[in-house]
Amino acid sequence: MAAGIVDLDAIASTARSELDAASDEAELEAWRVTHLGRKGTLTSVLRQLGGLEIEERRRVGSEANVLKGELEAAFEAKRDDLKGQKLAATMLEGQIDVTLPARKKRVGRLHPITQTTREIVDIFVSMGFSVAEGPEVETDYYNFEALLLDRDHPARDMQDTLYIDYERDGQYPFMMRTHTSPNQVRFMEEHKPPIRVVVPGKCYRNEATDPTHEWMITQIEVLAVDEGISLADLKGTLFEFAKRMFGQDRRVRFRCDYFPYVEPGVDMAIDCFICGGDGCRTCHQEGWIEIMGAGMVHPEILSNMGYDAERVTGFAAGMGAERIALLRHGIEDIRRFYQNDLRFLEQF
Ligand code: DAH
Repeated sequence: MAAGIVDLDAIASTARSELDAASDEAELEAWRVTHLGRKGTLTSVLRQLGGLEIEERRRVGSEANVLKGELEAAFEAKRDDLKGQKLAATMLEGQIDVTLPARKKRVGRLHPITQTTREIVDIFVSMGFSVAEGPEVETDYYNFEALLLDRDHPARDMQDTLYIDYERDGQYPFMMRTHTSPNQVRFMEEHKPPIRVVVPGKCYRNEATDPTHEWMITQIEVLAVDEGISLADLKGTLFEFAKRMFGQDRRVRFRCDYFPYVEPGVDMAIDCFICGGDGCRTCHQEGWIEIMGAGMVHPEILSNMGYDAERVTGFAAGMGAERIALLRHGIEDIRRFYQNDLRFLEQF
């Protein structure tokens, strides 16, 4: 083969411009096969060397080797360049805009009734009371009988009861507790005086709901049993509670009321903290707002508990957390608490 056929310059310039044009890995690989591969342009030049004059063979051989080295280096540089471009493109694609406003974490909060219940409980705890709990499914015995509400006692009508559909000997002995008062008995069975305890918890009644009635409510039961406890202790303790809950200048009113498990029984009212007693919407023009039932624990219950009712006396009280929360926040409908409307609940 004649030396003139081996035009290294032409090979070099074609190879360089093709390399420049390669725009991805596949094109780059095709270029490598064409120019540097076993059947590539340069290799075939080197193969042809055998047919050249000795002088020419040396010259072309060394030039071709230099060119091969240059093209290999150019190939590697191009490969790195393409890799860099690809990485940059991927980063651009998956790029995060750090200037976007962050997604807000929604932090929950305690339900307003939980808040109120805790406030009430805390006030009594600060006065030396401890806290206990009892079951929401009660027996007829604890919910009624042990509190001197016999089966045919008319006062049972005050608490329209949700019974559990479970029959035993023709009776339905289980019910959703209608109040927290059964825990007076449960606690006294387990403890000896002196007793100072509050028992918060949910209670259930068969109520047609309206702005002031719900079928599930939260009560807080208060019980103090000791030697020498009198109605003065009841008044003093509950008055102190009312002042801490509704303001230091509150006045309280106690009136006779009937609950079979206390004697005497009272209802306790505070002077309206909105109008100061003149009469307004919150107090239904009464000037007074009833907030709980209370009384001196019936001596018959104390002796049923094995206490010496000649020496030991006690007072008990029960209040509804929803009612207290309604009053404190000026809410007009008790049903709002359990409709799970965040627009309402988020205000507390
Ligand atoms: N258990 C009564 C109710 O749910 C409230 C009550 C009244 C509780 C008098 C008491 C009490 O402890 O002495 O209506």
